[in-house]
Amino acid sequence: MEMERKVSMSFNVYVTRRIPDAGLEIVEKHCGKYDMNPEDRVLVRDELLEGVRGRDGVLCLLTDTIDADVFEAAGPQCKVFANYAVGSNNIDVEEATRRGIVVTNTPGVLTDATADLAWALLFSMARRIVESDKFMRTGKWTGWGPMQFLGADITGRTLGIVGAGRIGSAMAKKSRGFEMKVLYYDTVPNAELEKALGARRVELDELLAESDFVSVHVPLLPETTHLIDAAALKKMKKTAILINSSRGPVVEEKALREALKNGTIAGAGLDVYEKEPIAEPGLEKLDNVVMIPHLGSATKATRSKMAELAANNLVAALKGETPPNCINPEALKA
Ligand code: DGY
Repeated sequence: MEMERKVSMSFNVYVTRRIPDAGLEIVEKHCGKYDMNPEDRVLVRDELLEGVRGRDGVLCLLTDTIDADVFEAAGPQCKVFANYAVGSNNIDVEEATRRGIVVTNTPGVLTDATADLAWALLFSMARRIVESDKFMRTGKWTGWGPMQFLGADITGRTLGIVGAGRIGSAMAKKSRGFEMKVLYYDTVPNAELEKALGARRVELDELLAESDFVSVHVPLLPETTHLIDAAALKKMKKTAILINSSRGPVVEEKALREALKNGTIAGAGLDVYEKEPIAEPGLEKLDNVVMIPHLGSATKATRSKMAELAANNLVAALKGETPPNCINPEALKA
């Protein structure tokens, strides 16, 4: 016999795409019936505008562009947009604040998963895993050879962390087992990293020139857009490998393609792209790049925790409480 669910209040909520059940159960328990995009795909613009219409709250994804038109469509009663991501570059937070709409994100729970994935990209590139896997699968291997698929050493080399926030720091700390020298570039010093690893805060140019592996972990902001451009790539060692698991536009993808083609740098591991879901044409032809489809937080446990966090943020805002991960607390005063 089906148990009757106790719904404390009823709110009009929209979920822009299916997320793990852990989150949907919280939404259902606290908000009653909710509507959700029935298909497992990104909503087109008109569908998004229609979906949010008249809602008290929306649980949205990093693939949804949430701007003034979306807030306008939602209406003046709308209290919250709870993003299912730590990044919030898809949302016009300033506009939300102006309208008194709370915006939340999901920090913390995806730190290790994303740093682990950046390491997976680093290993894949350094030891040419994808390239040699392809070689095996296509039946090209005729036996062991002293010159086959020679890669780059990791142990004892220099790791350059661009952006030493939560994920960048986790990436750096995981280098301990590999006895790496750690350099970092950030607008603020990270005393913990310096103490724990002897990491040194340097200017970006020095980091690029000295690092064997450069891993990017900055948020996407106007000042970080194309932070790694043609000029930055030229400053890197010819043997260096670039890893990007932050946001695509931080790296100028056309310049990266050229740098990989011309041997300006040795390789790249990419999880994110400037114009997702499209990667810069030509990248797919290169053996010295590993490309995966934005999987930083893609573990079962992490995505479940993100769903719980996003749902709890949504519910708290709807109940008039301060959500645990509110990124524009000024909106609560508006
Ligand atoms: C985030 O949460 O911002 C990540 O990119 C999702 O994988």
